[in-house]
Amino acid sequence: MTLTLGVNIDHIATIRQARRTVEPDPVAAAVLAELAGADGITAHLREDRRHIQDRDVRLLRQTVRTHLNLEMAATEEMVAIALDIKPDYVTLVPERREEVTTEGGLDIVGQIGRIGEVVDKLQSANIPVSLFIDAEPAQIEASAKVQAKFIELHTGKYAEAKDEKSLKHELDFLAAGCEQALQAGLRVNAGHGLTYWNVYPVACLPGMEELNIGHTIISRSALVGIERAVREMKMAIRGEY
Ligand code: PXP
Repeated sequence: MTLTLGVNIDHIATIRQARRTVEPDPVAAAVLAELAGADGITAHLREDRRHIQDRDVRLLRQTVRTHLNLEMAATEEMVAIALDIKPDYVTLVPERREEVTTEGGLDIVGQIGRIGEVVDKLQSANIPVSLFIDAEPAQIEASAKVQAKFIELHTGKYAEAKDEKSLKHELDFLAAGCEQALQAGLRVNAGHGLTYWNVYPVACLPGMEELNIGHTIISRSALVGIERAVREMKMAIRGEY
């Protein structure tokens, strides 16, 4: 299985929304990212619409030639949008209005009924669901119980590890979670906080399917262009960076 790269283009929209104007356009960024080798495009339609807008998701659905991963909260409004737009898959994430970015994984154990219903609704409409969770054994078990097709392992703590010991601890935690999930029949993605410098060990985890990476690629693209930034991330994933 080859590991794929989903490029999250939210922060192209963040720059646009800083002035509430029409540039830069995340749809154009998605086209260029695909030309540079992105295997998928990821966009998070937040309830507060702080970056990606409804218009972006609709246009991305029509223009993305790889696959479109729609990140969203498990709310009625978002489920209705997903059922209408039909992304290639949906990633359910926790959302709090005051947070700077997604903090912590989704709690499946504590809301198994509600998440189960949302998974059911989307997957019955042929939209596979991925659950963004911490690599906790109980969360993985609950994700398998609600029959989600994928989980996305939250790599935030790994990315924030300050020394070798905690880095190893967090990587071992991700590796164990990945193995448990695969054994439970789940497909495994990962993301959050991954950079050119820390991505390779995660890319090497056996059975890992897709990495969803945004901030580091968009940051670099502001300086060197998105095509080069995506190409260099593909190299980093292969350990050639
Ligand atoms: N995966 C999920 C579920 C996310 O919420 C985010 C951030 O929107 C990412 C991946 C990408 O994180 P980053 O921008 O830190 O690469």
